[in-house]
Amino acid sequence: MNKIKINLPEKPYSFYLGENIFDKLDKFINKNYPAHSVFIVVDKTVYKLYKLRVDSFLKSIKNKSNKFILTASEENKSFESLKKIHSSLIKNNFGRDTLLAAIGGGIIGDLAGFAAATFMRGIPFAQVPTTLLAMVDSSVGGKTGINFSNTKNVIGAFYQPGFIYADTAFLKTLPKKEFICGVGEIVKYAFLTNKYFFNFLTRNFEKAINGDTNVLNRLIRNSVAYKGSVVAEDEKESGLRKVLNLGHTFAHALEVEQDHKIKHGEAVIFGLACALYTSKEIGILTADRFKRYFNLIREFQDLITINSFDKRKIYNIMLRDKKNLQGKVKFVLLSGIGDILLNVEVDKKVLYSSLEAGERYFQKSK
Ligand SMILES: NC(=O)c1ccc[n+]([C@@H]2O[C@H](COP(=O)([O-])OP(=O)(O)OC[C@H]3O[C@@H](n4cnc5c(N)ncnc54)[C@H](O)[C@@H]3O)[C@@H](O)[C@H]2O)c1
Repeated sequence: MNKIKINLPEKPYSFYLGENIFDKLDKFINKNYPAHSVFIVVDKTVYKLYKLRVDSFLKSIKNKSNKFILTASEENKSFESLKKIHSSLIKNNFGRDTLLAAIGGGIIGDLAGFAAATFMRGIPFAQVPTTLLAMVDSSVGGKTGINFSNTKNVIGAFYQPGFIYADTAFLKTLPKKEFICGVGEIVKYAFLTNKYFFNFLTRNFEKAINGDTNVLNRLIRNSVAYKGSVVAEDEKESGLRKVLNLGHTFAHALEVEQDHKIKHGEAVIFGLACALYTSKEIGILTADRFKRYFNLIREFQDLITINSFDKRKIYNIMLRDKKNLQGKVKFVLLSGIGDILLNVEVDKKVLYSSLEAGERYFQKSK
């Protein structure tokens, strides 16, 4: 089992990674949370697929345990679900001495994390990510929240887990589409970090998409170590942490415009394509680098399709995005691998042409 330390100054915690480690989670909790009850929020699909393992885990918890099963959908990342989780905790007499664990992808993790943050002013929380995207990204860093008023993640809290337990055996049942989404976020990390990561991913793209355990192991470790170091330096996103939003201003707006019918990871791939175009158009990324970096995006051309969208609507959604202050859309862009620029204001015309380029590019794959 690998252990990656997320060194937050006030609350350091560990990310455990390995195959079949879920079977050891009961012992880990009984040892580290001896006085705690355990309440899990589990993805309905995951529960169906791993019912025996999940039930046996709950049974082996020394103290009281219970489960709340929920379908993972953006519609369910809502106040209504939050209310149901809190009601279930109260109805079943769970108190402050409860460890709330999320077992599922990013939707379950974000929602359950917010439920833990807000129940009795905050109870211990653990992430058990079961999608590649959640393993490389959403389980780390403490961003929790729900969607509201057609805006993604607009209500939430920074609330760190006590630990993260990532069992790569869960990935054996992950649909191909979800692998593509996870690798999309990994591409973001390849652009953010260094040429070794970038070259490794470029060489092993096929293996990553097809779930090769060794390749995924390294990609997860590298992504988590990088994200952990950024979050440790800037937990509340006042500066450096904004780098993690590379491609995400485009992605979030597209997700809303498409009524969440597009997966977050697919939107991120589109967003990264647009961010590369924008960086080239405003002259911070050379044509040569653009070409080289875009080769990694090209790998997705036959794997995802983006339906046509209303650019004006996308622009207005971007203006409304919580990260954009004073009515100006600001972007995270790049001039090289690991060379990231924050808060770049982009001309509306350039923005529209980048969106058109991204749209054209991924429509071709139909
Ligand atoms: N908090 C953060 O920092 C952060 C970062 C990135 C994304 N997010 C959020 O994460 C969400 C996306 O997360 P996601 O891509 O994990 O999506 P998800 O939670 O919807 O899971 C994707 C699909 O995979 C299924 N699934 C999960 N585990 C499975 C398994 N082991 N086998 C088979 N099927 C499985 C789910 O039922 C679902 O249908 C979005 O809401 C996004 O906003 C949060």
